[in-house]
This record gives sequence, structure tokens and C-alpha cells, in this order.
Amino acid sequence: MTHKLITLKDVYKDYFKIGVAVNPTTLRQDGELIRTQFNSITAENHMKPEELQPEEGIFTFEKADMIADFAKENDLALRGHTLLWHNQTPDWFFKDGDHIASRELALERMKTHITAVLGRYTDGFYAWDVVNEVIEDKGTTILRESNWTKVVGDDFIQKAFEYAREASPNMSLFINDYNESHPEKREKYYSLIKDLIAKGTPINGVGLQAHWGVEGPAIDDIREAIEKYASLGLTLQITEMDVSMFNFDDRRTDLMQPTEQMLALQAERYEQFFDVFREYSKHIDSVTLWAASDRYNWLNDFPVHGRKNWPMLFDENNQPKESFNRIVHF
Ligand code: GLA
Repeated sequence: MTHKLITLKDVYKDYFKIGVAVNPTTLRQDGELIRTQFNSITAENHMKPEELQPEEGIFTFEKADMIADFAKENDLALRGHTLLWHNQTPDWFFKDGDHIASRELALERMKTHITAVLGRYTDGFYAWDVVNEVIEDKGTTILRESNWTKVVGDDFIQKAFEYAREASPNMSLFINDYNESHPEKREKYYSLIKDLIAKGTPINGVGLQAHWGVEGPAIDDIREAIEKYASLGLTLQITEMDVSMFNFDDRRTDLMQPTEQMLALQAERYEQFFDVFREYSKHIDSVTLWAASDRYNWLNDFPVHGRKNWPMLFDENNQPKESFNRIVHF
């Protein structure tokens, strides 16, 4: 008798899609795990501006195509990330020779980029992040200062959504950010979105990145964030989830393996998070994990270079961890 392994996508099929961030290497080395457990994928990096248009007018779609093809071949849905960002965006967007580009020129480039990307990547995609991480973390300032705010102005966000809507009339268009459950940032994120809606911006959804940890954020803060964003009448997606073993300012580097206690705490946290996601599943239509397993994930190098972290549901051998067990049995 063959024993069929329980899968995330089956367990959650009546709740939301279960996605995972991928890149060409993980598709090769972890393809089996990705296609069995998940039903949605997101390009971790390969659909960002610097990857798709490194030089003006030179589009490089090969790696992104590889990801889109993998989705098609394996019947997986695609979540697009990200049309604009302040990071991983080439400088040429903002320059005119040796000078700063005019607002008009930068807007024209924005439109060309968005139109080209959505022209190619609409079919099979159920959502796209239009802007990423536009909220300022500190103080009372709402918008992060960036090349986009400097060259175009604060309405670059609205413009981006309008161009995206023109390029892909039925796409679900998202704003996406981290620290989305911190009370202060939550208020800023909420008021920006509310303002965008009031201005008639074609926005459909709010992305909660959910780069969380074993100690924070508190469940009540997450719950409040979800309720607040849902009150705007938009769809919510958990877009980049991982549960770090370390607090952001914890710089310890001595651990070669997670302790039993860490793994137990992480399992408890994953269980609580997914309890909340199920409770709010009428607002949440997908939950994307930011890596397939502990074998590869961005937290192995960030914020402490070279330090190993174990933030995912599967271990370094792609075997289910206690965290996995706790979210598939409820
Ligand atoms: C942010 C971005 C992602 C990715 C992660 C790190 O959260 O939105 O695209 O760069 O950082 O992997």
C-alpha cells in the first residue's frame, strides 16, 4: 500500500491558495516538493525591474519565462512580484544623461515597463504587486522617500496602478509591505490605502508580507491588522511568509542547528498564524511562503551575513517539520 503524504494544497483547498517563492535554482533542486505541496508560485526575484529590464528597452524575460513555464506545466497559479520597487530597480529609470530625469520621462518609462511586463505576464496570474514597500518605517511620515517619490512625486503610486489597470484590465492589483502588523506602520499603511481608494485608484488588494518571527508580532496585532485592512473592502493576501528563529536585532551566530526549544516554539507560532488565517479566510485568498524549505531561503544571509536560519515548514532535507504537522492537522 502506498502512503499518500498529506499536502498543504489539499488541506487548504477550501480556504486559500498555498504559494511559494521560487527561483530557477530552487525549481531545479526542490521542484518535486514545490509541485507536490503548493498550488501557486511567485518569482522571488526574477520578475523585479532589474531582472526584466536591466537597461532601457532591453527586456530579459528568460528566467521569468522559466518560472511561468514551470507553473503552466504543473498546473500552478502565479502571483506576480513586483512591477515597481525602490530596490532592485536600475538607475536608468531616473536619469536623463547626467541629469535627473523629468517627471514626464520617468512616468513614460514606468508605463512602458508596466505595459511590457503585464503584456507578457497576465495569463495564468491571479494577482500582481504593483508597488512594494512604499511605507516609511519610522516616525509619522507615511511614504518612504525613494527615487520614485523624488523624481515623480507622491502620486507615483496612483499612476502605477492606473497604468497597470490599462495594461491588464482584469488583473487583481496589489500593494505589498512588511511590518504590516506593527501598530504604527499598520495605521500608516491603512491610511495610505484608504486615501488611494478615495482617489479612485484601481487597487484590489493588500499584501501582508508576514516576515515574522518566533517572538513577534503578537497574534492580537496580526488579527487587528487583518481586520483593519479587510475593513477597506479589499482582498488580502499573505505574500512572503517566513518565521525567523531570531529577532531582527539578535546577531548570534553560534548555532549550527536549531534547538528543540526553537523548533517547538516555531511550530506553536505557525499553528497560531494558520488558525488566524483560516478564521479570516473569507478575506484571505492566498498564503505564500517565502521559500519551500530550510535548504534555501534569504534569511540564511540576512540580516546577519552567512548565518543559517530555519524559518520554513520543511527542513534542509525537504522533510516536513513539526511546524508543518501542526498546520495540516486542525
Ligand atoms: C522583500 C521583497 C522581496 C524579497 C524579500 C527578500 O520582502 O518584497 O521581493 O526581496 O524582501 O527575499
